[in-house]
Amino acid sequence: MTAVPARVGVIGGGRMGAGIAQAFLAAGARVAVVEAGDEAAAAARGRVADGLQEAARRGKLDGDVTTVLDRLTVVDSPTALDIGTGLVVEAVPEQADLKARVLRAAEAAVAPDAVLATNTSSLSVTELASALERPARFLGLHFFNPVPASKLVEVVVARETDPELVATASGWVRALGKTDVVVQDSPGFASSRLGVLLGLEAIRMLEEGVADAEAIDTAMELGYRHPMGPLRSTDLVGLDVRLAIAEYLHRTLGERFAPPQLLRDKVAAGELGRKTGRGFHTYT
Ligand SMILES: NC(=O)c1ccc[n+]([C@@H]2O[C@H](COP(=O)([O-])OP(=O)(O)OC[C@H]3O[C@@H](n4cnc5c(N)ncnc54)[C@H](O)[C@@H]3O)[C@@H](O)[C@H]2O)c1
Repeated sequence: MTAVPARVGVIGGGRMGAGIAQAFLAAGARVAVVEAGDEAAAAARGRVADGLQEAARRGKLDGDVTTVLDRLTVVDSPTALDIGTGLVVEAVPEQADLKARVLRAAEAAVAPDAVLATNTSSLSVTELASALERPARFLGLHFFNPVPASKLVEVVVARETDPELVATASGWVRALGKTDVVVQDSPGFASSRLGVLLGLEAIRMLEEGVADAEAIDTAMELGYRHPMGPLRSTDLVGLDVRLAIAEYLHRTLGERFAPPQLLRDKVAAGELGRKTGRGFHTYT
């Protein structure tokens, strides 16, 4: 079985970046997280440490937290990444120009056959590749939230991605104890495209009075064995996040992704799902 790369860089140590760093650390890699500024660096380190402690508490970490954390460094710029021929995963906020900028800086800092990846959830991986000198060494690795508990990573193949790299990256995903699905670069990849469509239709059903939110979710949970119904799942992701993705898919894939008015109204009213205590369901 392929092992994970010995050295991994993660640009952005937020919710996803910290989870990605944790996953590679737990699998034995040395990980350098890039965060600009002392406060952001300390927060990123704290997130990774908390995640490792939680994994240890659940008996899901090989080795003790201190030893694993010794393999983590936090640096202040992608140009400071020293990962040899390893892997860099970009997990900065979802802005194309910011992502292109940090990826270009990382590409200039690493060995020519190092691998660069983006954790974008919606941007075109092929368009991001166009900012790079070596697009064949670049692909999408779409991790899911929360990374440590999630079993899936979409391996997203851009137009110029080297096919051998796809096989290597799939091996790394399996070495993390997760399952890879290989998807050609297209809006929403496989997961968001199907998941968002189901969520939007559930919201339209609610608007039309077909059933209430509890009934719609229960129908999918018990009838189709979905672990979580489409409205509960929208509450978990955040209605604002879902709306932004739906708007993008509407622009790129057409009318079937048009955001329902009820979704827009709830976002405008600040009912964003679990994080605000109310979305399609209420949380205490
Ligand atoms: N949150 C999710 O559910 C989810 C799921 C899959 C993919 N994603 C994608 O992952 C990426 C990150 O999302 P997130 O939820 O972790 O965001 P986040 O806001 O929690 O984290 C982003 C981090 O990037 C840091 N950052 C910003 N500019 C930087 C720079 N120039 N250099 C280094 N670090 C910088 C920020 O300080 C922050 O810690 C986005 O592309 C998002 O679409 C998110």
